[in-house]
Amino acid sequence: MYTQSFSVQDQAEGKPAGLKAVPLSEAEQVLNNRFEATIDADGKIEPRDWMPDAYRKTLVRQISQHAHSEIVGMLPEGNWISRAPSLKRKAILIAKVQDEGGHGLYLYSAAETLGTSRDQMLAALHSGKAKYSSIFNYPTLNWADVGVIGWLVDGAAIMNQIPLCRCSYGPYARAMIRVCKEESFHQRQGYEALLVMMRGNDEQKAMVQDAVNRWWWKCLAMFGPPDSDSPHSAQGMRWGIKRISNDDLRQKFIDATVPQAQVLGVSLPDPELKWNEARGHWDHGQIDWDEFWATVNGNGPCNKERLATRVKAHNDGQWVRDAALAHARKQQQRTLKEAA
Ligand SMILES: [Fe+2]
Ligand SMILES: [Fe+2]
Repeated sequence: MYTQSFSVQDQAEGKPAGLKAVPLSEAEQVLNNRFEATIDADGKIEPRDWMPDAYRKTLVRQISQHAHSEIVGMLPEGNWISRAPSLKRKAILIAKVQDEGGHGLYLYSAAETLGTSRDQMLAALHSGKAKYSSIFNYPTLNWADVGVIGWLVDGAAIMNQIPLCRCSYGPYARAMIRVCKEESFHQRQGYEALLVMMRGNDEQKAMVQDAVNRWWWKCLAMFGPPDSDSPHSAQGMRWGIKRISNDDLRQKFIDATVPQAQVLGVSLPDPELKWNEARGHWDHGQIDWDEFWATVNGNGPCNKERLATRVKAHNDGQWVRDAALAHARKQQQRTLKEAA
């Protein structure tokens, strides 16, 4: 995955980036004009290019939150690797979870090109200051959850991330191309696992329906608050970072998913879901934003557990980082010796 509008502020951050009007010097004005012209021409901004501070700040926040979401997203599914029902499912799940780790690495690298370090980003995550997608703060209760996460969570992620392949910041856009290809595999493996379960016995079918009931609304919330409630979406759009609004992405997701649910034979837990001929879209009910914000703000069912697991994994891996650094130092000394 994974995105959730990404206009969510990290804790202890000041005024939203992009809304501050900082006066520019004459030289900066020239650079700013060049930046604006590149944006207007739908060109790419590269790490070496001048960019406004607010653009840089917005990207660092968005890309690092995205990277955190990828690696925290490994945890709920990682819990099922040892309990996958067959060797085939285990191999698929391991591959998927590894992909998510890889997505985190591309994204941390992309954020580093903006002048922030990986240590800084991880420190912000581990201290609870940085946000990540709140979808990972819910538990995975049964095997069907793994399928539903692939189908719906990765499905929502693809919807969110395809427009990011055209993001104005080059390194982010390029990272997203590969990420989206892998997300597509994630979505399909989840859907296929559910199709198999829906051909199984009543208990298996009930597990799938239960998982869909629990995840559906949370997946709709992944697209972020309604447009009317997303004050700096407009700036993201202007900068070519965000291409499609939260509500439009959510609608696209619902329209694509309803027919898939019909093929699967599950119902979606929204009595107000109905086809609107005039709009050419599915109408849907109200999302519980209070629950969304409670989870974003640290009070979801698994926030503490996820963070504790992540911090422990990081600490447990310290010896690997130490060993890699020691090896690099030795190699460097050897090279210097040979050169002398
Ligand atoms: Fe994924
Ligand atoms: Fe991912």
